[in-house]
Amino acid sequence: MAVIIDGKKISSEIKDELKELAAKYKSEGKEVTLAVIQVGNDPASTVYVGNKKKACEYIGINSISYEIPEETTQEELLKLVNDLNDRDDVNGILVQLPLPSHIDEDVIIKSISPKKDVDGFHPQSVGALSIGQKGYVSCTPAGVIQLLKRSGIEIEGKECVILGRSNIVGKPMALLMLRENATVTVCHSRTKNLKEVTSRADILIVAIGKPEYITKEYVKDGAVVIDVGIHRKENGKLCGDVLFEDVEPAASAITPVPGGVGPMTIAMLMNNCMQSV
Ligand code: GUN
Repeated sequence: MAVIIDGKKISSEIKDELKELAAKYKSEGKEVTLAVIQVGNDPASTVYVGNKKKACEYIGINSISYEIPEETTQEELLKLVNDLNDRDDVNGILVQLPLPSHIDEDVIIKSISPKKDVDGFHPQSVGALSIGQKGYVSCTPAGVIQLLKRSGIEIEGKECVILGRSNIVGKPMALLMLRENATVTVCHSRTKNLKEVTSRADILIVAIGKPEYITKEYVKDGAVVIDVGIHRKENGKLCGDVLFEDVEPAASAITPVPGGVGPMTIAMLMNNCMQSV
Protein backbone atom coordinates (compact mmCIF):
# COMPACT_ATOMS: atom_id res chain seq x y z
CA MET A 1 0.00 0.00 0.00
CA ALA A 2 1.46 3.30 -1.08
CA VAL A 3 1.27 6.60 0.76
CA ILE A 4 -1.05 8.80 -1.28
CA ILE A 5 0.61 12.20 -1.63
CA ASP A 6 -2.10 14.77 -1.02
CA GLY A 7 -1.42 17.71 -3.33
CA LYS A 8 -4.61 19.47 -2.32
CA LYS A 9 -3.57 19.53 1.33
CA ILE A 10 0.04 20.51 0.62
CA SER A 11 -1.00 23.26 -1.80
CA SER A 12 -3.44 24.62 0.80
CA GLU A 13 -0.65 24.75 3.38
CA ILE A 14 1.54 26.69 0.94
CA LYS A 15 -1.27 29.10 0.08
CA ASP A 16 -1.90 29.71 3.80
CA GLU A 17 1.78 30.45 4.36
CA LEU A 18 1.72 32.87 1.42
CA LYS A 19 -1.44 34.52 2.75
CA GLU A 20 0.38 35.26 6.00
CA LEU A 21 3.35 36.63 4.09
CA ALA A 22 1.06 38.83 1.97
CA ALA A 23 -0.53 40.24 5.13
CA LYS A 24 2.94 40.99 6.51
CA TYR A 25 3.91 42.72 3.25
CA LYS A 26 0.69 44.74 3.36
CA SER A 27 1.46 45.91 6.90
CA GLU A 28 4.80 47.14 5.54
CA GLY A 29 3.00 48.97 2.71
CA LYS A 30 4.02 46.45 0.03
CA GLU A 31 1.41 45.30 -2.51
CA VAL A 32 1.78 42.39 -4.92
CA THR A 33 0.07 42.65 -8.31
CA LEU A 34 -0.20 40.01 -11.03
CA ALA A 35 -1.38 40.87 -14.54
CA VAL A 36 -3.08 37.93 -16.28
CA ILE A 37 -3.65 38.02 -20.03
CA GLN A 38 -5.98 35.62 -21.83
CA VAL A 39 -6.28 35.89 -25.60
CA GLY A 40 -9.54 34.42 -26.93
CA ASN A 41 -11.87 32.23 -24.91
CA ASP A 42 -10.58 28.68 -24.92
CA PRO A 43 -12.77 27.05 -22.23
CA ALA A 44 -9.89 25.24 -20.48
CA SER A 45 -7.87 28.49 -20.35
CA THR A 46 -10.88 30.31 -18.89
CA VAL A 47 -11.05 27.73 -16.07
CA TYR A 48 -7.28 27.95 -15.40
CA VAL A 49 -7.28 31.75 -15.45
CA GLY A 50 -10.33 31.82 -13.16
CA ASN A 51 -8.54 29.54 -10.67
CA LYS A 52 -5.44 31.73 -10.74
CA LYS A 53 -7.51 34.84 -10.03
CA LYS A 54 -9.30 33.06 -7.17
CA ALA A 55 -5.97 32.01 -5.64
CA CYS A 56 -4.73 35.63 -5.85
CA GLU A 57 -7.85 36.82 -4.08
CA TYR A 58 -7.45 34.19 -1.33
CA ILE A 59 -3.84 35.12 -0.65
CA GLY A 60 -4.21 38.87 -0.96
CA ILE A 61 -2.45 39.39 -4.28
CA ASN A 62 -4.02 41.99 -6.59
CA SER A 63 -4.87 40.62 -10.00
CA ILE A 64 -5.49 42.70 -13.09
CA SER A 65 -7.03 40.71 -15.84
CA TYR A 66 -6.97 41.31 -19.57
CA GLU A 67 -9.42 39.15 -21.50
CA ILE A 68 -8.74 40.21 -25.05
CA PRO A 69 -10.24 38.97 -28.33
CA GLU A 70 -8.99 36.00 -30.37
CA GLU A 71 -8.28 38.39 -33.29
CA THR A 72 -5.75 40.43 -31.26
CA THR A 73 -2.60 40.77 -33.37
CA GLN A 74 0.87 39.81 -32.18
CA GLU A 75 1.85 43.50 -32.27
CA GLU A 76 -1.11 44.48 -30.08
CA LEU A 77 -0.27 41.75 -27.57
CA LEU A 78 3.41 42.78 -27.59
CA LYS A 79 2.38 46.36 -26.87
CA LEU A 80 0.25 45.26 -23.92
CA VAL A 81 3.12 43.17 -22.48
CA ASN A 82 5.56 46.03 -22.97
CA ASP A 83 3.20 48.47 -21.24
CA LEU A 84 2.93 46.04 -18.31
CA ASN A 85 6.72 45.60 -18.25
CA ASP A 86 7.01 49.37 -17.81
CA ARG A 87 4.44 49.67 -15.01
CA ASP A 88 5.94 49.90 -11.50
CA ASP A 89 2.65 48.79 -9.95
CA VAL A 90 2.69 45.42 -11.78
CA ASN A 91 5.03 42.79 -10.30
CA GLY A 92 4.19 39.70 -12.34
CA ILE A 93 2.92 39.08 -15.88
CA LEU A 94 1.28 35.85 -17.01
CA VAL A 95 0.17 35.24 -20.59
CA GLN A 96 -2.06 32.17 -20.58
CA LEU A 97 -1.04 29.54 -23.14
CA PRO A 98 -1.88 28.28 -25.68
CA LEU A 99 -2.13 31.44 -27.78
CA PRO A 100 -4.07 31.60 -31.08
CA SER A 101 -2.03 30.15 -33.96
CA HIS A 102 -1.35 33.56 -35.60
CA ILE A 103 0.71 34.57 -32.53
CA ASP A 104 4.23 33.21 -31.98
CA GLU A 105 4.34 32.03 -28.35
CA ASP A 106 8.12 32.18 -28.20
CA VAL A 107 8.14 35.84 -29.22
CA ILE A 108 5.57 36.70 -26.55
CA ILE A 109 7.32 34.71 -23.80
CA LYS A 110 10.59 36.45 -24.65
CA SER A 111 8.90 39.86 -24.51
CA ILE A 112 7.98 39.47 -20.82
CA SER A 113 10.59 41.08 -18.56
CA PRO A 114 12.50 38.29 -16.75
CA LYS A 115 11.89 40.34 -13.57
CA LYS A 116 8.13 39.77 -14.02
CA ASP A 117 8.23 36.27 -15.56
CA VAL A 118 6.29 34.49 -12.81
CA ASP A 119 5.66 31.48 -15.10
CA GLY A 120 9.43 30.96 -15.39
CA PHE A 121 9.15 30.38 -19.14
CA HIS A 122 11.53 33.13 -20.34
CA PRO A 123 14.80 31.78 -21.82
CA GLN A 124 16.69 33.85 -19.22
CA SER A 125 14.75 32.17 -16.38
CA VAL A 126 15.39 28.71 -17.85
CA GLY A 127 19.06 29.56 -18.43
CA ALA A 128 19.47 30.80 -14.85
CA LEU A 129 18.01 27.55 -13.55
CA SER A 130 20.37 25.52 -15.69
CA ILE A 131 23.45 27.19 -14.24
CA GLY A 132 22.16 27.40 -10.67
CA GLN A 133 21.50 31.14 -10.62
CA LYS A 134 18.53 33.00 -9.19
CA GLY A 135 15.39 33.29 -11.29
CA TYR A 136 11.79 32.21 -11.52
CA VAL A 137 11.26 28.45 -11.75
CA SER A 138 8.50 26.91 -13.85
CA CYS A 139 5.58 26.26 -11.50
CA THR A 140 4.71 22.59 -12.10
CA PRO A 141 8.23 21.19 -11.58
CA ALA A 142 8.72 23.51 -8.59
CA GLY A 143 5.47 22.08 -7.23
CA VAL A 144 6.76 18.51 -7.61
CA ILE A 145 9.84 19.38 -5.52
CA GLN A 146 7.59 20.79 -2.79
CA LEU A 147 5.38 17.66 -2.87
CA LEU A 148 8.44 15.47 -2.35
CA LYS A 149 10.03 17.63 0.35
CA ARG A 150 6.85 18.22 2.31
CA SER A 151 6.08 14.47 2.19
CA GLY A 152 9.47 13.76 3.77
CA ILE A 153 10.81 11.99 0.67
CA GLU A 154 14.58 12.25 0.42
CA ILE A 155 15.86 13.26 -3.01
CA GLU A 156 19.63 13.43 -2.51
CA GLY A 157 21.50 10.50 -4.01
CA LYS A 158 18.33 8.89 -5.40
CA GLU A 159 17.91 7.56 -8.94
CA CYS A 160 15.34 9.87 -10.50
CA VAL A 161 13.87 9.09 -13.90
CA ILE A 162 11.82 11.75 -15.66
CA LEU A 163 9.61 10.58 -18.49
CA GLY A 164 8.99 13.58 -20.78
CA ARG A 165 11.22 16.38 -22.05
CA SER A 166 8.96 19.41 -22.50
CA ASN A 167 10.32 22.90 -21.88
CA ILE A 168 7.69 23.53 -19.22
CA VAL A 169 7.94 20.27 -17.22
CA GLY A 170 10.50 17.63 -18.21
CA LYS A 171 13.58 19.79 -18.76
CA PRO A 172 13.19 22.11 -15.74
CA MET A 173 12.21 19.08 -13.65
CA ALA A 174 15.52 17.42 -14.53
CA LEU A 175 17.45 20.57 -13.58
CA LEU A 176 15.62 20.88 -10.26
CA MET A 177 16.20 17.24 -9.33
CA LEU A 178 19.86 17.69 -10.22
CA ARG A 179 19.97 20.76 -7.97
CA GLU A 180 18.60 18.52 -5.18
CA ASN A 181 21.50 16.10 -5.80
CA ALA A 182 19.50 13.28 -7.41
CA THR A 183 21.04 11.17 -10.15
CA VAL A 184 18.86 12.15 -13.08
CA THR A 185 17.84 10.36 -16.28
CA VAL A 186 15.47 11.95 -18.79
CA CYS A 187 13.65 9.59 -21.13
CA HIS A 188 10.90 10.14 -23.68
CA SER A 189 8.68 8.59 -26.34
CA ARG A 190 11.70 7.61 -28.49
CA THR A 191 13.69 6.00 -25.66
CA LYS A 192 14.62 2.38 -26.36
CA ASN A 193 13.80 -0.17 -23.64
CA LEU A 194 11.70 2.41 -21.80
CA LYS A 195 10.50 -0.08 -19.17
CA GLU A 196 14.08 -0.95 -18.33
CA VAL A 197 14.98 2.71 -17.85
CA THR A 198 11.90 3.69 -15.80
CA SER A 199 12.32 0.55 -13.64
CA ARG A 200 15.64 1.94 -12.39
CA ALA A 201 13.90 4.85 -10.70
CA ASP A 202 13.66 5.38 -6.95
CA ILE A 203 11.63 8.45 -7.93
CA LEU A 204 9.72 8.25 -11.22
CA ILE A 205 8.23 11.50 -12.55
CA VAL A 206 5.86 10.96 -15.44
CA ALA A 207 4.98 13.76 -17.86
CA ILE A 208 4.58 11.91 -21.15
CA GLY A 209 1.09 13.19 -21.96
CA LYS A 210 -0.47 9.76 -22.62
CA PRO A 211 -3.46 8.71 -20.51
CA GLU A 212 -2.78 5.80 -18.11
CA TYR A 213 0.33 4.81 -20.07
CA ILE A 214 2.47 3.74 -17.10
CA THR A 215 1.59 0.33 -15.69
CA LYS A 216 3.33 -1.63 -12.91
CA GLU A 217 5.76 -3.13 -15.46
CA TYR A 218 7.41 0.31 -15.70
CA VAL A 219 7.85 0.74 -11.95
CA LYS A 220 10.36 -0.69 -9.46
CA ASP A 221 8.86 -2.07 -6.25
CA GLY A 222 8.85 0.64 -3.61
CA ALA A 223 9.39 3.54 -6.03
CA VAL A 224 7.89 6.99 -5.51
CA VAL A 225 5.67 7.80 -8.50
CA ILE A 226 4.74 11.38 -9.42
CA ASP A 227 2.11 11.76 -12.12
CA VAL A 228 2.11 15.13 -13.90
CA GLY A 229 -0.44 14.13 -16.58
CA ILE A 230 -4.08 15.12 -16.61
CA HIS A 231 -6.63 13.84 -19.13
CA ARG A 232 -10.39 13.52 -19.31
CA LYS A 233 -11.57 9.99 -20.06
CA GLU A 234 -14.57 9.14 -22.23
CA ASN A 235 -16.62 8.50 -19.07
CA GLY A 236 -15.92 12.10 -18.01
CA LYS A 237 -13.51 11.15 -15.19
CA LEU A 238 -10.02 12.62 -14.90
CA CYS A 239 -6.93 10.43 -15.09
CA GLY A 240 -3.18 10.89 -15.27
CA ASP A 241 -0.34 9.37 -17.29
CA VAL A 242 -0.14 6.55 -14.71
CA LEU A 243 -2.65 3.70 -14.42
CA PHE A 244 -3.18 4.42 -10.73
CA GLU A 245 -4.92 1.20 -9.58
CA ASP A 246 -2.22 -0.91 -11.22
CA VAL A 247 0.82 1.03 -10.00
CA GLU A 248 -0.30 2.06 -6.49
CA PRO A 249 0.21 -1.38 -4.84
CA ALA A 250 3.83 -1.50 -6.07
CA ALA A 251 4.76 2.08 -5.16
CA SER A 252 5.86 3.37 -1.76
CA ALA A 253 4.22 6.74 -2.46
CA ILE A 254 2.17 8.05 -5.38
CA THR A 255 0.28 11.17 -6.43
CA PRO A 256 -3.36 10.79 -7.43
CA VAL A 257 -5.06 12.57 -10.36
CA PRO A 258 -6.86 14.78 -9.59
CA GLY A 259 -5.49 16.12 -6.31
CA GLY A 260 -1.78 15.44 -6.78
CA VAL A 261 0.49 17.66 -8.86
CA GLY A 262 -2.36 19.77 -10.33
CA PRO A 263 -3.12 21.99 -7.32
CA MET A 264 0.61 22.58 -6.77
CA THR A 265 1.05 24.52 -10.03
CA ILE A 266 -1.13 27.41 -8.88
CA ALA A 267 0.37 27.36 -5.37
CA MET A 268 3.85 27.74 -6.89
CA LEU A 269 2.64 30.49 -9.23
CA MET A 270 1.46 32.34 -6.14
CA ASN A 271 4.84 31.68 -4.53
CA ASN A 272 6.58 33.19 -7.57
CA CYS A 273 4.26 36.21 -7.39
CA MET A 274 5.22 36.74 -3.75
CA GLN A 275 8.88 36.68 -4.77
CA SER A 276 8.25 39.34 -7.41
CA VAL A 277 8.11 42.30 -5.00
N1 GUN B 1 -1.38 26.89 -19.93
C1 GUN B 1 -1.40 25.71 -19.27
N2 GUN B 1 -0.61 25.76 -18.17
C2 GUN B 1 -0.07 27.01 -18.15
C3 GUN B 1 0.82 27.67 -17.25
O1 GUN B 1 1.31 27.13 -16.24
N3 GUN B 1 1.12 28.95 -17.57
C4 GUN B 1 0.61 29.58 -18.67
N4 GUN B 1 0.97 30.85 -18.90
N5 GUN B 1 -0.20 28.99 -19.52
C5 GUN B 1 -0.55 27.71 -19.25
